[in-house]
Amino acid sequence: MGDWITITEEQHNYKLEHFNIPQHYAEDVSSILIPHGLIIDRIEKLAKTIISQYSDRLVVCCVLKGGHQFFADLVNFLKSFTNSQGKNLPISLDFIRVSSYENDSSTGHVKISMSEKELRGLKGKDVLIVEDIIDTGRTMVSLLEYLKKFELKSLKVASLFIKRTPLSNGFIPDYVGFSVPDLFIVGYCLDYNDHFRDLNHVCAISPEGKIKYQNE
Ligand code: HPA
Ligand code: MG
Repeated sequence: MGDWITITEEQHNYKLEHFNIPQHYAEDVSSILIPHGLIIDRIEKLAKTIISQYSDRLVVCCVLKGGHQFFADLVNFLKSFTNSQGKNLPISLDFIRVSSYENDSSTGHVKISMSEKELRGLKGKDVLIVEDIIDTGRTMVSLLEYLKKFELKSLKVASLFIKRTPLSNGFIPDYVGFSVPDLFIVGYCLDYNDHFRDLNHVCAISPEGKIKYQNE
């Protein structure tokens, strides 16, 4: 068992009416798996752990778009810890766009958008990749494989979620927030064809939602 919070199959039953859900998604999600407040509390602890394990400059690299909200909240906690602890750990921010999903499945084709020039700038640096979810693991393994040739000092991965799926290639990130059941989840910047990023809680998409936002 890894060092994360496990959301079990039975647990994803917070009723929608007990939380505030944007009206435009009321029919499109079936339950809340992880309320926003719990996500934030967990990220605070991840930030504390990460801060304790680095001592030089750290480059925090956001995998867009899904990683954006986790990245923003994580970096805020990292800054507040370095400030309050008087720790000498400058943090640089970087962004990379990786895409492979259409509807609810991985296309297997991973597109990485960061110029060779920008990537060469990472040479000799401690880099932490920040991702929303590890599902099959294929996207992340391709990205790490690609980054290897740029001779980073260290390369670690923080993912807010890891999915318990039989399709996993076994990749486990260095820092994980929650292990989630094998469902397609949305919210907190996780999307279904670019929808649901503006939902704060992490929810299971409903059959109606899947149909409504399906790409042709
Ligand atoms: N939700 C949103 N995006 C994803 C998922 C998921 O369950 N798995 C891989 N990308
Ligand atoms: Mg996505």
